[in-house]
Amino acid sequence: MTAVEPHAPAADPMLPRPFRVVAHHLDTDDTVTLSLEPMAGDPLEFASGQFTMLHAFGVGEVPISISGDPTWPGPLVHTIRDVGNVTHALVGAGVGAVVGVRGPYGRGWDVADGIGGDVLLAAGGIGLAPLRPVLWEIADRRTDFDRVVLLYGARSPSEVLFGPDLERWAQECGIEVEVTVDYAPPTWQGRVGPVTKLISRAGFDPHRTLALVCGPEIMMTLSTQALLGRGVAPDRVRLSMERNMKCGVGLCGHCQLRDLFICVDGPVLPYTELVDLLDVWEL
Ligand SMILES: Cc1cc2nc3c(=O)[nH]c(=O)nc-3n(C[C@H](O)[C@H](O)[C@H](O)COP(=O)(O)OP(=O)(O)OC[C@H]3O[C@@H](n4cnc5c(N)ncnc54)[C@H](O)[C@@H]3O)c2cc1C
Ligand code: FES
Repeated sequence: MTAVEPHAPAADPMLPRPFRVVAHHLDTDDTVTLSLEPMAGDPLEFASGQFTMLHAFGVGEVPISISGDPTWPGPLVHTIRDVGNVTHALVGAGVGAVVGVRGPYGRGWDVADGIGGDVLLAAGGIGLAPLRPVLWEIADRRTDFDRVVLLYGARSPSEVLFGPDLERWAQECGIEVEVTVDYAPPTWQGRVGPVTKLISRAGFDPHRTLALVCGPEIMMTLSTQALLGRGVAPDRVRLSMERNMKCGVGLCGHCQLRDLFICVDGPVLPYTELVDLLDVWEL
């Protein structure tokens, strides 16, 4: 009789791994960037645009995009806005605290589809966090692309995220960065107005552009209209969908939009797969 190799039980996809907070950076009044290191085992590898399920023990679990640099083997980085119970607990997790991590999950930006052409990135508010990894990825292989334009809108100057990164992308990485705010004090020297308005006159060739968009759903709807209006092909417009999620792995149906499970089919999806779903986005 042949000896049968004992199989290790498959890792439970619902079991979070403990990670320790090694840095806690206050980005704005309500937004914090946490750097995490595994308490045991290998660090996580991830693709730009993927998310993890972050677990605040005793409180609950939420999906949060990875906002760190995928080309640099440092800690696992997430940028979290305090909007409710779980995010409040995560934002309050100081250096030394332990949080749980499952993942990484989902389909990311896949910027390789933009090689040889222009890339237009449009972000609204906390939507810059899921785009940050792909900006570092583009910066790392900048010569693969022609024009790279980042349009970023925040509610006010004090809510602009990643100021030093925006400067570095503009000054050292050949990325054209335009920042606009909805409201500003008289001291603000920059643009005021919705980010979607910048799309109509931004410098990119719509016929060879990959557009990556992340922000509130209304911002994504208006951005998509503006991009299609300029002639960008619908399958070249990619949107990151932030739906309520529970399992993150396609088991519970919580994130389902008709036949799409946003946690596994997305969160990044081409507009062509979302076109009939615009009317149910807010459900
Ligand atoms: C794939 C994905 C990636 C995400 N990435 C980030 C990120 O990088 N940073 C970040 O701060 N947040 C991110 N979110 C949103 C985050 O998951 C929610 O803010 C969080 O689930 C709210 O949980 P809570 O218990 O703190 O608040 P709750 O008490 O559950 O909700 C508070 C408020 O937030 C709204 N809300 C709840 N869930 C979501 C959601 N999924 N999307 C939008 N609004 C929601 C509720 O309607 C309510 O108004 C992401 C969501 C998804 C699906
Ligand atoms: S969150 Fe459970 S199926 Fe997507």
